[in-house]
Amino acid sequence: MNSFIKDTLEGLTANPKHLSSQYFYDTKGSKIFQDIMRMPEYYLTDCEMEIFTNQKQAIIEDFGLNGKHIELIELGAGDGLKTKILLSHLLKNNVDFKYLPIDISEKAVHNLVNDLKHQIPELQVTGLVGDYFKVIKSLNGKNRKILLFLGSNIGNFEEEKAISFLNHLKSVMNNGDMLLIGFDLKKEPQIILDAYNDAQGYTEAFNLNLLQRINDELGGDFDLSQFTHEEIYDEHTGTAQSYLKSKRKQSVHIKQINKIIEFKNDETIFMEISQKYDLSMIENLAQKSGFNIVRNYYDERQYFINSLWTLKN
Ligand code: AVI
Repeated sequence: MNSFIKDTLEGLTANPKHLSSQYFYDTKGSKIFQDIMRMPEYYLTDCEMEIFTNQKQAIIEDFGLNGKHIELIELGAGDGLKTKILLSHLLKNNVDFKYLPIDISEKAVHNLVNDLKHQIPELQVTGLVGDYFKVIKSLNGKNRKILLFLGSNIGNFEEEKAISFLNHLKSVMNNGDMLLIGFDLKKEPQIILDAYNDAQGYTEAFNLNLLQRINDELGGDFDLSQFTHEEIYDEHTGTAQSYLKSKRKQSVHIKQINKIIEFKNDETIFMEISQKYDLSMIENLAQKSGFNIVRNYYDERQYFINSLWTLKN
């Protein structure tokens, strides 16, 4: 049984029901996510662009480059919109480096590499497809690595999973390697709710697309028009949670798992967590997973932090 079938079966037969946002990113889902990143309400993209634009010099100085070749490895690169700012700045400063974007989607990597070859022809770039850890492990261990995990992707893990992800990452890093990681910060709740509950309906479409994927790949018969998206944000814990809610009592048949899933009126499926942080939560996460913070770069509104980490020895 592949993990998509296994996790779907487990999640839809659990009480309360849940699905995993790691499956959002098929071709259509990745395309909707690009649209989300470009919405004015989704401030996260602008914040990171601003940090890279205004603080690129400080960031590359903090990388501690000493003339030796480095590998800049991006986990889940998407369309590389933000990273291009850093890449161009490194080139302008004659830094000897290679950019290695990794993604589970072959298409995403292919498109990004093609795009970069056109836009920045002097860039050395190789796209890598597969499981982040396996791919990093398979690289030549001799080169110094700087890993990028941007966009507050870490916030899509619950705390325990975030720590185990970071621990795993640590195990494929060597002394002197660094991690530049993005964290979305706690802020006025309405700003967060608007980013995750947009009026145009992109976020709803992003969530519903996972039901469509279950229909297409697992023989489901979800009627997408009978579910609606709901977002809640708990300002005390900083947790934004995304749900799909059944508009009525209904049954859904999923052929491949040979199950009929019953929904009550208003019953929800928990779809995604997007954790928001404060400084002490970031420090705590670094501490618990064995990293030291070199520096935090904030945007002007202090909505977001890119944090540069090294291994604790
Ligand atoms: C990829 N990740 C950081 C996004 C987030 O902000 O949690 C995914 C997303 N979900 C809804 N909008 C964006």
